[in-house]
Amino acid sequence: MTKFLRRLGRSLRKRLRQLGLRRMRALGQVETLGKATLHVPLLCDGAGRVVLGDGVHLGYEGAPRLGDGEIRLQARAPGVVIAIGAGTAFSNNVQVIAEAGVTIGARCLIGDAVQILDSDFHALGAADRHVRPGAAAPVVLEDNVFIGSRAILLKGVTIGRNSVIGAGSVVVRSIPPGVIAAGNPAKVLRPLPPDHDPLP
Ligand SMILES: CC(C)(COP(=O)(O)OP(=O)(O)OC[C@H]1O[C@@H](n2cnc3c(N)ncnc32)[C@H](O)[C@@H]1OP(=O)(O)O)[C@@H](O)C(=O)NCCC(=O)NCCS
Repeated sequence: MTKFLRRLGRSLRKRLRQLGLRRMRALGQVETLGKATLHVPLLCDGAGRVVLGDGVHLGYEGAPRLGDGEIRLQARAPGVVIAIGAGTAFSNNVQVIAEAGVTIGARCLIGDAVQILDSDFHALGAADRHVRPGAAAPVVLEDNVFIGSRAILLKGVTIGRNSVIGAGSVVVRSIPPGVIAAGNPAKVLRPLPPDHDPLP
């Protein structure tokens, strides 16, 4: 009986998440270019647009309520886009907040509690910061990038194709393709060993 109720609860939560996605699509907040799977609640609360490629997975299926699980994709202003490429998977509690735009390529892996912030959000001047916006610049993750847990990616960075960013890193400058980078500020540790590139 308990097993049955648990399964029922899981399937109701899944249904609610898919209904939430349908509602965001109807409101024009989210566009899906194929099948997107939600294992955790998704919040898209900006005035811009979120585009989910085919086969995007949001949330870790094995522990959907780890943390609160929720993924927040906030494209703040009209015309701002957060685009997530086909086959990319996010773990739980990821936040992407965009004022300029965030583009994530195909087949990327985004660890739990990663934050991507493409803006300072507040001017830096002591008095200005309360009234003026901060500097913003687009963030790009090329295809097949792997971002470790709790990394923070800041304005204007590009992470090159196939590169890995270590857990807890703070990325303030762009990282080239095909390397492992980590630390605060993140620096290249070494190139990845030669490998088959899984994408065309
Ligand atoms: C970056 C990473 C891939 C490197 O793994 P590795 O190649 O086995 O690295 P090593 O443990 O041999 O460490 C190499 C060097 O990098 C440093 N380093 C490794 N990971 C680091 C990190 N996250 N931040 C800062 N420095 C790091 C090590 O201290 C070591 O420095 P040293 O040569 O001066 O001693 C790994 O440490 C990591 O962060 N994995 C991500 C795990 C994760 O978050 N998964 C997602 C879960 S959803």
